[in-house]
Amino acid sequence: MAINLKAREVIDSRGNPTVEVDASDGTNRARAIVPSGASTGVHEALELRDKDVRYGGKGVRTAVANVNNRIAPALADLDPKDQGAIDHAMFTLDATKNKSALGANAILGASMACCRLAAMQKGVPLYQHVQDISSRKALMPVPCLNVINGGVHAGNDLDMQEYMLVPAGADNFAEALRMAAETYHHLKGLLEKKYGKNSTNVGDEGGFAPPMARPEEPLEFLTAAIEELGLQDKMMIAMDPASSEMFKEGKYLVQGTSLSAGELADRYQAMAQTFPLISLEDPFDQDDLEGWKLIRQKLPKLQIVGDDLLVTNPERIAMAMDNDACNALLLKVNQIGSVTEAIAAANKSFDAGWGVMVSHRSGETEDTFIADLVVGLGAGQIKSGAPARGERTAKYNQLLRIEEESGAAFGGRKVFER
Ligand code: PGA
Ligand code: ZN
Repeated sequence: MAINLKAREVIDSRGNPTVEVDASDGTNRARAIVPSGASTGVHEALELRDKDVRYGGKGVRTAVANVNNRIAPALADLDPKDQGAIDHAMFTLDATKNKSALGANAILGASMACCRLAAMQKGVPLYQHVQDISSRKALMPVPCLNVINGGVHAGNDLDMQEYMLVPAGADNFAEALRMAAETYHHLKGLLEKKYGKNSTNVGDEGGFAPPMARPEEPLEFLTAAIEELGLQDKMMIAMDPASSEMFKEGKYLVQGTSLSAGELADRYQAMAQTFPLISLEDPFDQDDLEGWKLIRQKLPKLQIVGDDLLVTNPERIAMAMDNDACNALLLKVNQIGSVTEAIAAANKSFDAGWGVMVSHRSGETEDTFIADLVVGLGAGQIKSGAPARGERTAKYNQLLRIEEESGAAFGGRKVFER
């Protein structure tokens, strides 16, 4: 059974072009769409853009042509069930370290579409095929729902990017999602009362974008919403300041003030003492290792997640392990650009006792690949934005279906214990 690949340019949730790939074998047809970040790490694999007049330079016609003209013939005679062989054929063809020849968006689109085609050929759900590749036990994840947006994802003055509800104390995924959606609605009422209805317009990931600037204020609102609903035993908070975006000339610009790494670490420590914080992502710049080491010493038990720091790259993960810079991986498939490498990055992290949080990008699509991925990896944690906007809810809704079908256990609090 030969693989036929056909790519096209479609648009993502920000109206920017992205790569969609169909993989068919004459009987089955699988489809995958590649997501795209805004607060991207400098060490990520290269997302190939046309840089011409179309779509403000963001067109992906070159990446599409690379799938149709170069990747398709190289994969035609391979078995999609051998994900390693599929991905290695593309690495060989690309022959660069950061996938800049073909584009990580071209390679990943083909990689995910072939993975889905393999599941179809086996007659199993995608999460089960991922589980077969990763040799892990399936687990329903705790959703981390980003309900207040700042940074480059929103048009407000919040320097820190993401404030998430984490219903880790729920009994199952469906209950977790319900609690978070109810808290999201309660939060909306609290914001409207203080700041008026303009304050509940939403940012890129469906969270509210209120006119706040002080980084502790969203934590105060989230905590109030949680307590007023009586959910303090079940609902925690996670943050992603995405600090690389705040890093200017060796200091962190927070609310108009330049903070040293030490001052910022003290600020995080105070937040962790005051609010029910369960996870902190990218507290420091992607190359400010001293800051990362400092926060690990100050908050040794807290889950510290590396996103821009690690870029889902095994070499960066090894470097972070050597330096004890963090204790969890944020797994974004398009940062590294293939299914094989993403699963390898997760397994390397599990082996070291780290946590793994599977993640969407701020530029998303209706593709639900990461919902199946997180279950098949047994990672137990996913962030996919607010319980709002179709590209975010598509993942949560797919997880509801998987929970119903698989009966897999819920990750719960223990997946955050470090
Ligand atoms: P991005 O944001 O997709 O814009 O990079 C998500 C994140 O920083 O975790
Ligand atoms: Zn991040």
